[in-house]
Amino acid sequence: MRLARLNEFMEKMPPESVAVIPSAREVRRNADTDYEFRQDSDFFFLTGISEPDCVAVIAPSHPHHRYILFVRPRRREEEIWTGIRAGVEGAVRDFGADAAFDIASLGELLPGYLAEAETLCYRFGLHDKFDATIIATLRSLRERIRSGVYGPATITDPSLILHEMRLRKNEEEIGKLRRAARISAAGHVAAMQECRPGMFEYELEAVTEYTFRKNGATGPAYPSIVGSGFNTTILHYNTNQERIDDGDLVLIDAGAEFEGFCGDITRTFPANGRFTRAQQAIYEAVLNANREVISMVRPGVSFMALHLRAVEVLAESLVSLGLLAGPTSEVIERETYRRYFMHRTGHWLGMDVHDVGRYHTRDDWRILEPGMVFTVEPGLYLAAGSEGLPQEFFNIGVRIEDDVVVTQSGAEVITADVPKDPREIEELMKKSLSVSG
Ligand code: GLY
Ligand code: MN
Ligand code: MN
Repeated sequence: MRLARLNEFMEKMPPESVAVIPSAREVRRNADTDYEFRQDSDFFFLTGISEPDCVAVIAPSHPHHRYILFVRPRRREEEIWTGIRAGVEGAVRDFGADAAFDIASLGELLPGYLAEAETLCYRFGLHDKFDATIIATLRSLRERIRSGVYGPATITDPSLILHEMRLRKNEEEIGKLRRAARISAAGHVAAMQECRPGMFEYELEAVTEYTFRKNGATGPAYPSIVGSGFNTTILHYNTNQERIDDGDLVLIDAGAEFEGFCGDITRTFPANGRFTRAQQAIYEAVLNANREVISMVRPGVSFMALHLRAVEVLAESLVSLGLLAGPTSEVIERETYRRYFMHRTGHWLGMDVHDVGRYHTRDDWRILEPGMVFTVEPGLYLAAGSEGLPQEFFNIGVRIEDDVVVTQSGAEVITADVPKDPREIEELMKKSLSVSG
């Protein structure tokens, strides 16, 4: 079956163009063992094929072969080790190709498909080895100029089309994101329920990721961040090795991947189930920013306006808590808030956790449209010893991250299954503490 997204891409390609989209490859981890394979998102988006070492050639103007797949052939002696492949026959039968060939014949056949094209759609800079194949193909075509061949004179990056398509999710894709978000939320709830002072961060990582797999996710969408105490103030801490002490905050930033789509949730909670006064004050500042930004989400709003609003709310809180000298307008103008809030408020979310799509078009920051999906993740990170920081605020890192779909009239928060209200978090943790005695 040919995927609808592939047909859509074909319609948007420039006239007389051919696109070449390679899959991801196996990457050696050590000796004869590879890293766990993850398909290239662009390739999977267009083809739905999860095998390595394939190339899709898309040639809408070709008289017979508009969609050609180069794949690993079926070989019993290899399949016995690594599993059954679709093979050349399967590429036509199962994946809707008009023609399919052994990947080994790419060098020989690719020039034929490019010879008549005006434009080559290929993204350089992702796969060095494959870049060399493309350059060699173009060179071989140009060498045939006296036989009337020239090959594509224009090279364009297909992601200009592809990533705009991936940025606006269709119903099926939003359905998968909802599933990824729901599974991610279940992982966070389980971690809150299992957390006890004295555990190690990796134990909570295990609980979270176990819940992902148990619920049908392929695994984490990115390395899970499970930090306690000082580690909550490290933005992408993911060694997850330390003991969680009584009185610590715990910050978990983890998301499940489901059928190629990612969840991305952060929750922060007290290891012993009760926020201290200072922890709660910072927590509420971040929660206000999270809620305020989400309440603004609707078509027509600038993506940048969301970040600016988060900055405003956080800066106001830092000033009113006496952690930064006011007035707020100056904190914003001079960016002194960056001592405690040093990242952006969100990013596109989809097949990649930091998904594709431009944030800034030629003139201005992107305006939200229905079908766009992104995270809202304000945070404050107060490391011990930060200049002028009172001790009660030491090692309070808080991030609250939700995933949001822009609808026709507003926003759908797809990560609402995991609590973020501090009372609700305490309630959930209290219940599980009393069950375990
Ligand atoms: N998990 C990485 C991020 O939130 O951007
Ligand atoms: Mn994120
Ligand atoms: Mn995250």
